[in-house]
Amino acid sequence: MTRHTVVTMPGDGIGNQVVPEALRVLKAVSFDADYVHADIGWEFWRNEGNGLPARTIDLLTKHKLGLFGAITSKPKKDAEAELDPKLRNKGYVYYSPIVTMRQRFNLDICVRPCVGFAGNPLNYIRKRPDGVFEEPQINTTIFRQNTEGMYCGVEWTNPPDNVRAALNSHPRFDAFANVPGRDLAVSVRIITRSAAERIITAAFEFAKRKGFKAVTICEKPNVVRETSGMMEEVAKEIQASKFPDIQLWRNNIDAQLMWLNKNPETFNVIVASNLFGDILSDAFAGLVGGLGFAASGNIGDEVAVFEPTHGSAPKYAALNPPIVNPIATILAAAMLVEHVGEYDKSKMIWDAVAAVVREGKVRTYDMLRLTGGTKVLEQGAASTPQMTDAILRKLKG
Ligand code: NAI
Ligand code: MG
Repeated sequence: MTRHTVVTMPGDGIGNQVVPEALRVLKAVSFDADYVHADIGWEFWRNEGNGLPARTIDLLTKHKLGLFGAITSKPKKDAEAELDPKLRNKGYVYYSPIVTMRQRFNLDICVRPCVGFAGNPLNYIRKRPDGVFEEPQINTTIFRQNTEGMYCGVEWTNPPDNVRAALNSHPRFDAFANVPGRDLAVSVRIITRSAAERIITAAFEFAKRKGFKAVTICEKPNVVRETSGMMEEVAKEIQASKFPDIQLWRNNIDAQLMWLNKNPETFNVIVASNLFGDILSDAFAGLVGGLGFAASGNIGDEVAVFEPTHGSAPKYAALNPPIVNPIATILAAAMLVEHVGEYDKSKMIWDAVAAVVREGKVRTYDMLRLTGGTKVLEQGAASTPQMTDAILRKLKG
């Protein structure tokens, strides 16, 4: 087995509380790795005018594996106001470091497992016709195209003349032809065949490896004919040519959200373009515990970065002991371990988390549905390190 080097980027706020917990777990399963710390986040924007310093890019380029916590992002004006006065009016512009990282390394495959752990009081439950409540076993992994689609960033309010002229050349633009520029906002949805092929292939490969019988593509080709149309066309081609043993199910994105409220357990692998995948993955995450449980991987050809989905939760960042749930980051670490092929170690982590949740003795405040704050520990919630301690005990036992 190769020894890996993991670039750890705790970032801001609670990122600093949860990443060290995940490292404790990685050490406990003897994951063969060295860890190097890298700077990212608000402090580096304020002091250097760059939330993702070049030295961090260099470390990721070299080591190719990252574990990221969270960053604080603020609107443009607030960002400028907090910049070190020495750096003001020198052309520094705030960009979200995580978005920049995804673009810089073309981390185009976003993987988000939404797996319900039995015994989690936050799990989705459903009432049967006989009045009995049941808790379906949700095991859904969402593959979201991470770099294109509605988030490609090609957009204007008051489009320049040449863009306006191009829009005018489309017959359907007649309806908007007389709208004054300042009242016209346009966001372009771009899908390229190669990116569609990569995300769809990743979803099918995952389904094959895990033994799932179907991949569901969630688009809207009846309305968004060109871009959703290309996603579906590529999905059909890839299924027919490379994965004939796995079914391709096609659901419109709106219908899929309805299905997920009725029978989410039916779907094991879902693939979608950027915005649709973003919405779907948050919606599914809400069925299996929410932000304390939502992990994700951002995977490119060369570099892969794993992270909890949540942000820096500034209101809890100063609490000592910390109270936030480290499970999302611990699962992100498990995904990293799986990504490099250490399937047994990854499974050990998932199983240990599952055992703690099933037992139900150690629960962070979110699992008890408490409002966060200093009082939650007195109210019976486990602190962040206590949750990790419980997971480590399961790993040893
Ligand atoms: P957030 O995810 O930081 O927190 C929202 C709420 O979710 C928290 O107040 C808390 O109640 C709960 N929560 C989050 N993580 C939790 C955990 N591990 N355990 C238990 N409860 C948890 O989102 P918010 O407050 O909208 O944003 C705060 C900052 O984070 C902003 O600056 C935002 O831009 C940034 N952000 C960064 C992300 C990233 O780094 N990928 C993602 C989302 C937001
Ligand atoms: Mg989101």
